[in-house]
Amino acid sequence: MINKTTIDQVFETARVEEVIGDFVQLKKAGSNFKGLSPFSDERTPSFMVSPVKQIWKDFSSGKGGNVVAFLMEHEHFTYPEAIKYLARKYNIEVEETEQTDEQKLQADERESMYLVNEFAQNFFERQLHKTDIGKSIGLGYFKERGFSNESMEQFKLGYSPDVWEAFTSEAIKKGYKLEFLEKTGLSIVKDDKQSAGQQGGFDRFRGRVIFPIHSMSGRVLGFGGRILTNDKKPARPSGGAAKYLNSPESEIYHKGKVLYGLFQAKQSIAKEDICYLVEGYTDVIQLHQSGIENVVSSSGTALTSDQVRLVNRLTKNITILFDGDAAGMRASLRGIDLILEQGMNVKICAFPNGEDPDSFAKAHSEEEIKTFLTDNAKDFIYYKANLLLEESKNDPVKKAEVIRDMVESISKIPNKIQQEIYVKECAVTMDISEEVLFSTLAQILAKDAVQNKKGEPRKTFEGIKKTVETKPQIDPQFELERIIIGLLLRYGSVKEEFQDFINEKGEEGEETLIPDKYEITVYEKIFLDLQDDEIEFANQVFRDLYSRIMLEFSTKQSLKIDSFINQIPEEHAAEITSILMESERNILHRWEDKDIYVKDKSELEPREVIETILNLRRFWIKKKVKALGESIKENRGEQNLEVIKQTIDYKDLEVRISNKLNRVI
Ligand code: CTP
Ligand code: MN
Repeated sequence: MINKTTIDQVFETARVEEVIGDFVQLKKAGSNFKGLSPFSDERTPSFMVSPVKQIWKDFSSGKGGNVVAFLMEHEHFTYPEAIKYLARKYNIEVEETEQTDEQKLQADERESMYLVNEFAQNFFERQLHKTDIGKSIGLGYFKERGFSNESMEQFKLGYSPDVWEAFTSEAIKKGYKLEFLEKTGLSIVKDDKQSAGQQGGFDRFRGRVIFPIHSMSGRVLGFGGRILTNDKKPARPSGGAAKYLNSPESEIYHKGKVLYGLFQAKQSIAKEDICYLVEGYTDVIQLHQSGIENVVSSSGTALTSDQVRLVNRLTKNITILFDGDAAGMRASLRGIDLILEQGMNVKICAFPNGEDPDSFAKAHSEEEIKTFLTDNAKDFIYYKANLLLEESKNDPVKKAEVIRDMVESISKIPNKIQQEIYVKECAVTMDISEEVLFSTLAQILAKDAVQNKKGEPRKTFEGIKKTVETKPQIDPQFELERIIIGLLLRYGSVKEEFQDFINEKGEEGEETLIPDKYEITVYEKIFLDLQDDEIEFANQVFRDLYSRIMLEFSTKQSLKIDSFINQIPEEHAAEITSILMESERNILHRWEDKDIYVKDKSELEPREVIETILNLRRFWIKKKVKALGESIKENRGEQNLEVIKQTIDYKDLEVRISNKLNRVI
């Protein structure tokens, strides 16, 4: 774990406008900056950065937060990755803590492996561009395939000379330990000293062009190396070297958890809101070069759900592209279910016979490729139906199997409505009655349910549950609590003259509201008033924020948003950001012509504070009364007298507060 001091130092040093400025062109607008949203295509800027509050908000996508949240959204870093990125940018030394010796050793080991891989990547690149043999053989090969210099640079392509220990001896000379050369699989170490050579090991990759494989954040995990012959057929087991040689699985390289090209594609995938999935390294590079940048590859192996999850962070839409040979199609049908299971949309686009995305992209313009993709990408259901029907043609038994197979796929979709739509589509395409399909679906789901009772809960329902939970509650209490938090954040320490009303009993017992003026800070006013009724916020995030904010004010008499936001949990920080930026949204359209920035104090309406508090109190009391009413029903007698008394008191209070509200408004 990264040391707390390091994190604090990073937050103290990093300037949100500087960090974002590396990715988005920002223009000064009053005391803020604005720019075009990096998360959507837009022509009028709706992306705002506040240097004062050290936060940002993108009004086109609704995203916002602090500097780390930006890096997590834009670069798809994890939290620690974002901290490390900032530390590097601002020359802050990263200290890690709270690791056991074993964890430390493991972290060191992984880090050493990354360093070795990085060195190897540079080594192979140098060999390709700076040595005669590399230039003639390696560069020559890539040129012939039509790869531009820019592509080679983007994908860090390289060349390994056809020498037994070129890399190994260079690495040892530079001080890299043989242990890590072996663990990354770059060197092969033999017990037998004779064949191991001088260095104790020799190179895995010899006489191959090199494709480094990167993590989502751009670290080098492993390599693929291709022999230089133009042979398109994979080599026979007995007949010489395999076409591709890949790094072995290691502590840092897990084939099933990596997608080739994701590092280079991630922004485009998020922006275009679709990901193309191809089979090979060269398909990725060729398409990328043609202007289709949102493309990744599972590198010839069957798609895994971990890989799908990587894409799921960026988009809900995947289109699988594959060559015209049927073997490939059959294999990737299994991948479809994995994608459906995660609630994502799958389309399939088949290339003409004998063509793969690589050859097709090489022979066509960007326009042509894009048109081809839109015209030929078919919803998985049509695709699967056609393919399977072809196989079962006039065989009714086979056809029944095929239908079951289709419905199996549909059963994987977590969204019930979507499921129903697909069943209907399927009925039409397969010429089968809906009833039969629905009953097959019900059978499969029932069987799944039984199986899942024994095992762990069915994973595919995660999707549904999540959307239900995060669905914004449109509930007046929620809104009121939110406004209170907003008032506290913006004006908490402002001293204001409040006019309140006190109840006074007249001689005959009648009540009148007497105006009462006094000066007090906004936070104290809110605190005291809410305390009166022992109001508890219903929303957990707001409740937590409320107590944190009050603690901050009561200890420091002020609240600095930028430092406050850095010491609270991410989701709370995000909530704060959106509350704060919302007020500025209204003035956004005026930014073009005037430098408007609303000063904090002058904007405050004491009335707004009182109104909100009263509304919240009234709402809270109403709820109390209702709850009491319900408990009366349940208790049937027993302690009802006490409860009824309480109810009357609350009702009374409600009337008073309503009266006050009327006076305020
Ligand atoms: N692959 C592999 N080992 C092999 C063959 C293939 O790892 N012996 C993987 C590679 O990641 C390759 C992908 O499977 O990119 C697809 O294989 P293929 O279509 O044969 O390779 P292409 O990328 O099309 O390579 P080329 O066009 O250079 O033949
Ligand atoms: Mn190919």
